[in-house]
Amino acid sequence: MAPVLELRGITKRFPGVLANDHISLTVEEGEIHALLGENGAGKTTLMNILYGLYRPDEGEIYVRGRRAEIRQPNDAINLGIGMVHQHFMLVPVFTVAENVMLGVESIRAGIFLDREDAVRRIRQISEQYGLGVDPHAYIKTLPVGIQQRVEIIKLLYRQADILILDEPTAVLTPQEVEELFKILRSLASQGKSIIFITHKLKEVMAIADRITVLRNGRVVGTTTPAKTSEEQLAAMMVGREVLLRVEKRPAQPGEPVLRVENLQVFDDRGNLAVRGVSFEVRAGEVLGVAGVQGNGQTELVQALTGLRPAAGGRIFILDKDMTTASPRAILERGVAHVPEDRQKDGLVLSFPVADNLVLNTYYLPPFAQRGVMDREVILATAERRVREFDVRTPSVLTPVSSLSGGNQQKVIVAREFSRPIRLLIASQPTRGLDVGSIEYIHRRIVEKRDEGCAVLLVSPELDEVMNLSDRIAVMYEGQIQAILPAETATKEEIGLLMAGVRKEEVRATAG
Ligand SMILES: Nc1ncnc2c1ncn2[C@@H]1O[C@H](COP(=O)(O)OP(=O)(O)OP(=O)(O)O)[C@@H](O)[C@H]1O
Ligand SMILES: [Mg+2]
Repeated sequence: MAPVLELRGITKRFPGVLANDHISLTVEEGEIHALLGENGAGKTTLMNILYGLYRPDEGEIYVRGRRAEIRQPNDAINLGIGMVHQHFMLVPVFTVAENVMLGVESIRAGIFLDREDAVRRIRQISEQYGLGVDPHAYIKTLPVGIQQRVEIIKLLYRQADILILDEPTAVLTPQEVEELFKILRSLASQGKSIIFITHKLKEVMAIADRITVLRNGRVVGTTTPAKTSEEQLAAMMVGREVLLRVEKRPAQPGEPVLRVENLQVFDDRGNLAVRGVSFEVRAGEVLGVAGVQGNGQTELVQALTGLRPAAGGRIFILDKDMTTASPRAILERGVAHVPEDRQKDGLVLSFPVADNLVLNTYYLPPFAQRGVMDREVILATAERRVREFDVRTPSVLTPVSSLSGGNQQKVIVAREFSRPIRLLIASQPTRGLDVGSIEYIHRRIVEKRDEGCAVLLVSPELDEVMNLSDRIAVMYEGQIQAILPAETATKEEIGLLMAGVRKEEVRATAG
């Protein structure tokens, strides 16, 4: 039988980039096919071609054995191909059913036709694949993991049987990832084919039937979890051996750089998200904040960086009270920030790479003299940083919006790591990065620490926190459950604290 999907020699060029270079691959019915590759390898481009968002320069696509012309997303949808984008395309003030019906035939007349029928079908789809979605729920009230399922329902409602998911787990908590995997297995067992993009090798090993690895726009190979290992996959992706662990010497903590006293912060809905948190970070140490996403970490970091007012308590940076300081004043106190939402807080997408690299220092020497910007210095500096941090871009004049997701992240890291700083606040600094880049960024964080910088690392990746930190603070429901020395802390112990078990009980359980 012909494969459900076959790509033959797909090639796509952008100005200065060969994004896809004669890519051929097949996807079988009921298969979960993982697509792996370093940042800028061409994964998203290939999927955009399959979904009709880009036209290939060369190559052919066959769907169920027949040559397909996919000129626009509608063609893809008609062929049963659906894509869940990384940034969800849902209307927050509409219900699930209304969102699912948007853009489908039944809205052509300008009104929602047969809403009852839609609700019935959504219920049926939700039950058939174990999605657990209420058709009447408003999108804005749903957690990210459920919103993602609404996107999946949208595809199934349109009878897609080839589902493309581009880094779906990047925004999920570990628990939500587990649930998504159950759903994917259920979909596959009922004949749906899934193309799954991720940078997490553990996930690939856990869920994929087959794995295709891309590098520099080309297929390096196709394998299965049984025939490979995380180490081998990493080497295939990057073309060299990758250290999956961080090597570092014991910390030599100096004076406190950041001191937080009884800090309280409201979230967007006016609830206390940070409920009286106290801690300090010393020069030369990494304090990791572990916790399931949504336990106040986001609001904590926003308050520390001046992006959200404190509702109570005090923040000292190098012994100066910065509780009500502006983001710029905090930055000028020697604080670097790698924000959680890189597109919103970290970059101006329409600006060139070079300008994004000096976004917060363009008005200072050497980039400006007496208020006049020096383009030459800015461009020369950009060239250097792009090389140093391995940002894959055709030129420093390319708008950041046309870089791959991981390379956008590298631009932020390159900028924030390249100024003289005393305190580094890094939120999920390696989100969306490939294993090679993660290794590099981790090394740079340890280097910063060893230069005497204080580092506050916030990450939902427990492995990352445990690997990099000298001390680990566990956040739960807006409070710090405990601060543990990383050397002796165990994964089980931290896991229990993250789940809300109190420190005394954890110690009792662990013995
Ligand atoms: N619209 C565009 N215009 C110009 N260049 C582009 C465009 N889209 C992608 N590229 C380039 O094509 C290459 C492949 O990018 P793509 O987004 O496919 O990578 P990726 O494998 O998805 O990477 P990541 O893991 O970082 O998401 C990159 O060099 C990128 O800069
Ligand atoms: Mg991508």
